[in-house]
Amino acid sequence: MRSRKSEVGSRKSEVGSLKSEVRGRKSEVQSWLLLLILPLLLLMACGSGDTSNNEDVQERLDMRGLQEFSSGKQLYIKYCQNCHMEDGKGLGKLIPPLQNSDYLLNNVAAAGRTIKYGLTGPIIVNAIDYNQPMPANPDLTSLEIKELLVYISNAWGNKSKIVTLEEVERALKPNTSD
Ligand code: HEC
Repeated sequence: MRSRKSEVGSRKSEVGSLKSEVRGRKSEVQSWLLLLILPLLLLMACGSGDTSNNEDVQERLDMRGLQEFSSGKQLYIKYCQNCHMEDGKGLGKLIPPLQNSDYLLNNVAAAGRTIKYGLTGPIIVNAIDYNQPMPANPDLTSLEIKELLVYISNAWGNKSKIVTLEEVERALKPNTSD
């Protein structure tokens, strides 16, 4: 009888230790999950700071789109912001806006040509006449131009679908008319 009891007892404690092992595993899994989630939360927090007044892009663009958007933003700061301004609103009668620009948003890929080859002559943006030369950027690659286009067509409340590299390259060919 005694040995039976102690056998049962030891079985029980065996079960007990199994249970606590399972519990241990569970909390291990939980802390791993936390480790995974924390950097994601941090990224999201930093990301939203980075895209001030572009909050909605996080929901609209996929991971790759967001990467291109943020590379495009760096290029924009370097090559465009002096004239078109940080908020994309341009400068009075001299520099046309990119924010909510009908000229840009009607044909985003075609703006790749403007970026690469520059633009001269009169244009109308949102019913306002502009006529100042924009300088060319011959050294930008097709990919950089795509990233710039992803940025300017999705920043400041603009909402365009992502241009493809093929569309950009087609627009950049010297003898396409638009
Ligand atoms: C030296 C000032 C200057 C810089 C730098 C500049 N632009 Fe422009 N941009 C202009 C001017 C001026 C026009 C209007 C050209 C015209 O009247 O023919 C223009 C026109 C445009 C247009 C078409 C009109 C519109 O508002 O939608 C786009 C798109 C554009 N620029 C994007 C860019 C991008 C992207 C960059 C950076 C790679 C850039 N620009 C750099 C001055 C500039």
